[in-house]
Amino acid sequence: MSLFTVSDACNGCGLCVAACPASLVRQAEPGARPEPLAGREAHCILCGHCVIACPTGAFVHELLPAKDFEPIDRKRLPEFDAVRHLLRSRRSCRTFDPTSVPREELLRLVEAVRHAPTGHNARQVGYVIVDGPARMDVARQGVLDWMEMEVAAKSARAAELHLGGAARAAAKGKDVIFRGAPHVAVVHAPDTGITPALDAAIAGAWLEIVAAAAGYGACWCGYLVFALDAHPPLGTLLGVPEGHKGYAALLLGRRAARPLAIPPRDMPPVTFF
Ligand SMILES: Cc1cc2nc3c(=O)[nH]c(=O)nc-3n(C[C@H](O)[C@H](O)[C@H](O)COP(=O)(O)O)c2cc1C
Repeated sequence: MSLFTVSDACNGCGLCVAACPASLVRQAEPGARPEPLAGREAHCILCGHCVIACPTGAFVHELLPAKDFEPIDRKRLPEFDAVRHLLRSRRSCRTFDPTSVPREELLRLVEAVRHAPTGHNARQVGYVIVDGPARMDVARQGVLDWMEMEVAAKSARAAELHLGGAARAAAKGKDVIFRGAPHVAVVHAPDTGITPALDAAIAGAWLEIVAAAAGYGACWCGYLVFALDAHPPLGTLLGVPEGHKGYAALLLGRRAARPLAIPPRDMPPVTFF
């Protein structure tokens, strides 16, 4: 099977050749009809860039039917200033309304970030969304067990994260772990692979942004990520698939209070080389 065909509408511009990250699209000479690099079909990462680069619609990918491509509505794209304002006004939420968010809403947020980039377009990121107070109690106890283990071992992490105080507060019922959030989304990816930790972190970052855009509160939950790393059975308990690891965790829910201003943040150092 040929990976792609190119119709007579091709103008020989070569944009598909330039767009393919795996160099699987070749032209014998400038202006020639592109051809697949023979025997290398399995190297295609199915990114679709060859198809979307073609200005004449001549490029047909065997595995990516044209009907699955969605036109870009440029009028709906936000302006730079609107994106900048959203990013600046997004804030970690630590005052949640404990009411659960309907699953359709949570799925709507995940659906919105399914185009988050992944190394080699691997798209193996998945989500476990802890849903409701009883399940949050199970997850919280898992984190508390990890905190107590680190404190008992007098570990460097216990000192660095002041886990003694956090564990004491949590044991007394102050929810320093989940901040009263009704959900936590664990973003998982294979524990081997090209860029699983980055893929999950990017997906988590995107999820935080769309949660803000949709009016929800979110906060990264480092404690849960540390606990999952130190104690893999906790991941299994929460439903993280075999062979995957939870690399990011995001508390989610409705905000009980809204931030009223944007706190100052320095411009990070930038150097040009
Ligand atoms: C990787 C990561 C882990 C975090 N873990 C926690 C956490 O366990 N608990 C918490 O309350 N905030 C956590 N935060 C939130 C940070 O404290 C917060 O981003 C920072 O204070 C800046 O506040 P802002 O997000 O409102 O700008 C985490 C943030 C990141 C990026």
